[in-house]
Formats: sequence, C-alpha cells, structure tokens
Amino acid sequence: MNHGNTKVCSDRVPDEQEISELRAVHYNAAVVGRIDIHDDLARFQIRPDRGVPRFAPGQYVALGLGYWERRLPGTQAETLPAKKHWRMVRRAYSISCPLVDASEALVTCDDIDFLEFYVTLIRTAEEPPALTPRLFALHPGDRLFVQPRVVGTYTLEGIAPHENVLLLGTGTGEAPHNAMAAALLKQGHQGRIAVACCARLADDLGYTRAHDVLMNRYANYRYLPYTTREPRNLDSSRGDYVGNERLQTVYRSGRLESEAGFAIDPRTTHVFLCGNPLMIGLRRGSDPPLLEPGMLQLLLSDGFREEGEAGPGLVRYEKYW
Ligand SMILES: Cc1cc2nc3c(=O)[nH]c(=O)nc-3n(C[C@H](O)[C@H](O)[C@H](O)COP(=O)(O)OP(=O)(O)OC[C@H]3O[C@@H](n4cnc5c(N)ncnc54)[C@H](O)[C@@H]3O)c2cc1C
Ligand SMILES: NC(=O)c1ccc[n+]([C@@H]2O[C@H](COP(=O)([O-])OP(=O)(O)OC[C@H]3O[C@@H](n4cnc5c(N)ncnc54)[C@H](OP(=O)(O)O)[C@@H]3O)[C@@H](O)[C@H]2O)c1
Repeated sequence: MNHGNTKVCSDRVPDEQEISELRAVHYNAAVVGRIDIHDDLARFQIRPDRGVPRFAPGQYVALGLGYWERRLPGTQAETLPAKKHWRMVRRAYSISCPLVDASEALVTCDDIDFLEFYVTLIRTAEEPPALTPRLFALHPGDRLFVQPRVVGTYTLEGIAPHENVLLLGTGTGEAPHNAMAAALLKQGHQGRIAVACCARLADDLGYTRAHDVLMNRYANYRYLPYTTREPRNLDSSRGDYVGNERLQTVYRSGRLESEAGFAIDPRTTHVFLCGNPLMIGLRRGSDPPLLEPGMLQLLLSDGFREEGEAGPGLVRYEKYW
C-alpha cells in the first residue's frame, strides 16, 4: 500500500525518514498556541493550512495524529502491531473559544484565525487511550491532522433574541458552550445566558477568568462554576461546606435556577447539555441501568422535550463518550 510517496510496510515500524514523509502526506494544520491549565488539561490553538473553515458555534471536528507519534511519558503503555504504526487515530473535538482577548474584549470564533480546543488528557482507560497521550506531547510548531469539514447539529438554531439559554457542561464539555455564549453576546442576545460548568476541582475550570470578565460586562450573562471533589464539597465540618455540586444536585435543589437568575421554564428556556454521558443521562445498550437520573430525565419530567422543533423547551445534548 502507498500513502502518498510513503510505502507502508506491515512487518516493521516506520523509520525517521518515513515518519517525516507520513507527516507531510497526512497533516494539514499546525499547533500555533498551547495554554496549559494544569498537567492534564490544556487549550490547544490550531491553524489549518488552508485557513479556518466556516462553522456554527457548537460544532466539532476530528483531530488526528499518527500512531507513529510518541506518547507523553506517564501515560498508559500501548502495544500495537507494526502495521498500525503507519496509520492515524482521529477523535472528535468541540470547537471552543477564548472568550476574551488580551485587552479583555469579547472574542468570538469569527474573530480569530485558529481553532481552539479544550482537552483533558486521558492517561489510562480500559483500552489504552490513543489520541490525547500524543496530543499532549505536541508544542507550538508541531503538526497534525484537522478534518477539513466541521460538523454537528449541537448549535444555536431556533433561538429567538429574547429567550433564555442554559448551557450545562461537565469538564471539557464547556468547550462548545464557550463558542455559543460568545456568539450570543456578540449578536446582542437580549434573553439571559447562563453557562454552568461542573468539574472535579476548581483548578479544572479552565476559563473562569474569561467568564468572570464577561459576567462583569454583560448584565444578562452568568457563569456558574461547580465542583464535586474540593474540601468544601466533601468535609461537612467546614464553614464553607456546600456539599456535592453535581448538576443534577444543584438543579433539584433550586440552586441552579436561583444562581442562573431566571426561571428554568420550558416556555422560555433552551437547554444544552454537554460532556459526561451519565450527567446527560445516556447509557449504551450493554451498560447497567442508570444509578441516578441524568439532567435529561430531570428536565423531561419538568416539561422539557428531547425532540421536535427547535424552540424553547427543547433539550439538546452532545455526549463525549
Ligand atoms: C462530538 C464529540 C466532541 C468531543 N469534544 C471533546 C472536547 O472538546 N474536549 C475533550 O477533551 N474531549 C472531547 N471529546 C472526547 C474525545 O473525542 C476523545 O474521546 C478524548 O479526547 C479521549 O481520546 P483518547 O483517544 O485519548 O481516549 P479514548 O479512547 O477516546 O477515551 C478513553 C476514555 O476516556 C474517557 N473520556 C473521553 N473523553 C473525556 C473527556 N473529555 N473528559 C473526561 N473523560 C473522557 C471515557 O471514559 C473514554 O471511554 C469529544 C467527543 C465527541 C464524540
Ligand atoms: N479512564 C477513564 O475512562 C476516565 C473516565 C473519566 C475521567 N478520566 C480521567 O479523569 C480526568 C478528569 O476527567 P474530568 O474530571 O474532566 O471528567 P469527568 O470524570 O466526567 O468529571 C467531570 C465532572 O462530572 C461529574 N460527574 C461524573 N459523573 C457524573 C454523573 N453521573 N452525573 C453528574 N455529574 C457527574 C464529576 O463529578 P464526580 O467528582 O462526582 O465524579 C465531575 O465534577 C481525565 O483527565 C481523565 O484522565 C478517565
């Protein structure tokens, strides 16, 4: 088999020269910036050689790297047959947005000449994770593959200017919400916008500063950061104890509604859910039944709907695995 000018040998791994050729054939973009939130969480800014394609806020794209690339030390070891070293792994990533620039002005995805991705490093999993241990080994200047066409139906379609928008994410599930929130603010959205992010630790909330800037500037914008594993979540003897802040917990207690500052009412509110499938309330056929309802089940029982015309009361979701 030939990949461009590179002959694929199934009985051995590619040498340095062949790796250079594989990169030249398969890669079409470069890392132009990398902001590390901590060792296992980063914002990657990537510029496709042919420019940023057109897309709608909320959509996603596949990133790819060759199995020939090195894995970050400290991630699960992988045993691959020689022929796989000539192939690429691709994974889907929602397009995020920096939200503000250095002068703290609002930035939308249309204002920048790169794609921003917000990615967590998966160090171990049931099967050795293939992409993130390689992605986290990249630095500005390094090259990779970006699928030329941006795809996805998790978008702002059907939102009237006066309607409220509630964007609920776990972990890096805030990525598409950042792109959406920036677009709504830029177009002068009149309804309320609340972006809630639930992460294990406060240090896992990678855009807090930018959200705070926007919240101070736009009266209709709220950022609601929640955590689940901080001492204040776990130690009931502390003065600042708040208990568990999973999204279902803060929704059921009424805290989410009071902190969002508007009624989470299907007649006036659009809801978006992104991230951990169990937060959404999704299971694969072979999975055990859900131990607790996800946000989808809770919202459906409060009059929201999962399908039908785009409009208030619709719950849209994007599951990451
Ligand atoms: C539409 C879509 C958009 C996505 N957007 C993003 C994004 O913006 N940022 C991002 O980090 N990931 C995102 N993902 C997940 C991403 O595609 C990869 O699965 C992930 O980066 C891990 O890749 P991997 O090859 O290292 O491990 P994989 O073999 O793909 O995953 C191993 C395991 O890691 C866990 N896992 C995967 N993704 C996450 C995550 N984000 N947070 C916590 N645990 C996870 C799951 O248990 C999964 O089974 C998205 C997935 C989809 C389907
Ligand atoms: N090996 C794997 O398959 C695997 C899977 C997930 C994460 N990880 C590792 O964990 C690191 C961090 O991942 P992450 O924190 O971004 O993602 P995450 O594990 O999905 O956690 C993000 C937030 O979602 C919450 N959450 C988990 N299950 C939930 C549920 N059923 N309902 C509602 N909320 C729920 C978590 O709360 P809790 O604190 O209560 O969990 C946490 O606050 C990654 O770097 C990765 O390496 C690995």
